[in-house]
Amino acid sequence: MKKIAVVGVGYVGLVTAAGFSDLGNYVVALDIDEERIKGLKKGQMPIYEPGLEEMVERNAAAGRLEFTTSYEGAVDGAEFVFIAVGTPEGVDGEADLKYVQSAAESVAQAMTGPLVIVNKSTVPVGTGDWVADIIRTTQKDSIPFSVVSCPEFLREGSAILDFMNPARTVLGSLDADAAERVAQLHLPLRAPIVITDLRTAEMIKYASNAFLATRISFINEIANICEALGADVKEVKTGMGYDPRIGPYFLDAGLGYGGSCFPKDVKALAHMAAEKGRHPQLLQAVMDINDDRRRLLVEKVRVTLGDLKGKRIGLLGLTFKPNTDDLRDAPALDIARRLMEAGALVRAFDPVGMPGAAKLIPDLAMAEDAYSLAEGSDALVICTEWNEFKQLDLSRIRDLMSRPIIVDGRNIYDPHEMSEFGFNYRGIGRGYGPDGEPVAD
Ligand SMILES: NC(=O)c1ccc[n+]([C@@H]2O[C@H](COP(=O)([O-])OP(=O)(O)OC[C@H]3O[C@@H](n4cnc5c(N)ncnc54)[C@H](O)[C@@H]3O)[C@@H](O)[C@H]2O)c1
Repeated sequence: MKKIAVVGVGYVGLVTAAGFSDLGNYVVALDIDEERIKGLKKGQMPIYEPGLEEMVERNAAAGRLEFTTSYEGAVDGAEFVFIAVGTPEGVDGEADLKYVQSAAESVAQAMTGPLVIVNKSTVPVGTGDWVADIIRTTQKDSIPFSVVSCPEFLREGSAILDFMNPARTVLGSLDADAAERVAQLHLPLRAPIVITDLRTAEMIKYASNAFLATRISFINEIANICEALGADVKEVKTGMGYDPRIGPYFLDAGLGYGGSCFPKDVKALAHMAAEKGRHPQLLQAVMDINDDRRRLLVEKVRVTLGDLKGKRIGLLGLTFKPNTDDLRDAPALDIARRLMEAGALVRAFDPVGMPGAAKLIPDLAMAEDAYSLAEGSDALVICTEWNEFKQLDLSRIRDLMSRPIIVDGRNIYDPHEMSEFGFNYRGIGRGYGPDGEPVAD
């Protein structure tokens, strides 16, 4: 069994640790958050991710997966160290590398034998070289090591599935042998493996996220135009998506992208470009369009409801997307704050996001379920497309509301059906009103 250390037990690190242990490796996962490690030792998951708990339990029971706060314990005897700590947004939009720096320093101090250090965190182009410098200047004795970039592409909500069935593995290193050894670890996953240099691997991650974000902003721009001209963006997307040159993915109009990756990664890429004197005008437009989504949604609620002061508004969904508890840069939180600032009485319901949201917005009232949220509401706003919201008893919802207004930020309902149920329904980019007539002038 190969020993692998994983540094940082968040969404990426925990899935990586569980995944590699499930492939038969001996994995020690480390975090500086003692509570997190204490919980994991007792089988308590620090995050909500479908299938994760079972996988952690199974591999911990088999003795292949352990948790620690000790760098010495994790790194000693390991062949590989995966760094999977956070790289949040810095003050000027750059990626903040303080966690990567401290992880690299701690690894350097703890290493006792040759090591392949694998960077899983999303880091600016050039960071691999910088990490190598940190290791070289911090280690006590001169021990050979190599740095390999192995960017992570998993999606929260289907992270286990994505780990086990990656579309590709990207590896970048100046040391071909080290990259080859990391490739061997990934062979059981039977995905194409792209081996390149460090900087190119780091760039592949940013370019991939920026491209997906661009698709989302593109369809949102089309949605705005659809709204003005009386076309239906959902059908436009279907019609476009069958074209194999386009494909159907990341073309859903709505509240725009959020979460812990796209917003900060697009910003960081633009920052890298600007620092080198380039003008990343497409990325700038992608960000501007995305920033506008939340404002436009609140505007749509205002147009439908009138003055928001004193209006009772229920938000269905808080997390930035379904099947995760991640609230980082979630559009719903921004929308809640804006509605509250306008004097609305806002309540929310989310299947898993409420405890986290209550900490971030203490004044936000929570409901027990979608039906109690609907009771007495002047409007419901769909912020996250959880499956359970697609199955609601809509007649019951309508009867519980004081006014049957639904603003659907995720286009989960059919406008014609909603109008038959008696709702005043507003989707995104669906240029017709409740009577099926275009809403354009
Ligand atoms: N979350 C995603 O969907 C996703 C997908 C692809 C890539 N990424 C990238 O992966 C990286 C990690 O993201 P995440 O969402 O898992 O972050 P996270 O915030 O969920 O987890 C980071 C963990 O690192 C720990 N940590 C911080 N400093 C440490 C240190 N010095 N030593 C040990 N542990 C330390 C934190 O306590 C935390 O548990 C980021 O660069 C992110 O951009 C994330």
